Amino acid sequence: MSAILRPTKRAARRFLPRHLRVLISRVQHARNRTTQAYGRIVPEWPTDAPDDPWADTVTTQRFVETPALDDVVGDLASPVVADNLEACRRTGLGTARLLDLGCATGDYCAYLRHFPGTRAWDYVGADINVAVIAHCRQRYPDFQFDVVSPEGQLPYADDEFDVAFVSGTLQYTNDWQGRLKDLKRIARRSVVLGRLPLWRRHPSAIALQIVQHSGGEEQHPVHLWNRAALESTLRDLGFGIEFCKPGFERLRVVDVAEQVVYHTYLLRRA
Ligand SMILES: C[S@@+](CC[C@H](N)C(=O)[O-])C[C@H]1O[C@@H](n2cnc3c(N)ncnc32)[C@H](O)[C@@H]1O
Repeated sequence: MSAILRPTKRAARRFLPRHLRVLISRVQHARNRTTQAYGRIVPEWPTDAPDDPWADTVTTQRFVETPALDDVVGDLASPVVADNLEACRRTGLGTARLLDLGCATGDYCAYLRHFPGTRAWDYVGADINVAVIAHCRQRYPDFQFDVVSPEGQLPYADDEFDVAFVSGTLQYTNDWQGRLKDLKRIARRSVVLGRLPLWRRHPSAIALQIVQHSGGEEQHPVHLWNRAALESTLRDLGFGIEFCKPGFERLRVVDVAEQVVYHTYLLRRA
């Protein structure tokens, strides 16, 4: 499709009935899943890599080249976004200040604004990738975006947020328990963990996730948790589990029969 026709087509979509927009969004979502991802178990978290794979050029390009949102309302119906927003809604908060840790494209600032349960929420995005944060600041100049470190204390005060939202990110943090403790420090009400990769039977493990897409290949060390073991740790850390939902994303690990299923959690600071 030519660059001239694309904006016209986007604009035209806004006049379609909602059910058609949702359908188009679902088809587009399926088409976008051209990314191939799998993992293989490794004995330990690799700490000798010279650079963080989340900041390499191939990864950065994937986020920076993601097209600007053209149908926010349609996107809200995509299963991954819908599960994350539902967990936020279940906090019951009419107004809230939310930190989106691992914000990547920063698009959740737009999703929250358009979702009935979170319209009045304030948004702050944070990520370890300097280039994607620069991109977020350009794309969404009305919002705050911060560069943060992958480990250690986040640059926020105790109780600075009502909700910490961490989608598809905690699993890429070596010291994930330390990060959860810090999220409990800065989020006075809830922590929403989205897209968390879990097994029901297989024990928790560390894997190297291989992501292949049209821009190249990425390799990320990733925690894959046994669900019961994870929930026991969450309780030990002082969280109550208010909501847990298996999502539709799956990950295959070489030589493991059981599929990894991504889950969404709403945690309450006990
Ligand atoms: C798979 S993307 C998830 C993006 C988005 N949150 C979502 O759910 O679609 C992971 C993001 O987390 C960031 N990230 C990776 N490790 C991180 C860490 N330790 N702390 C904060 N952000 C991290 C990456 O740079 C990347 O933008």
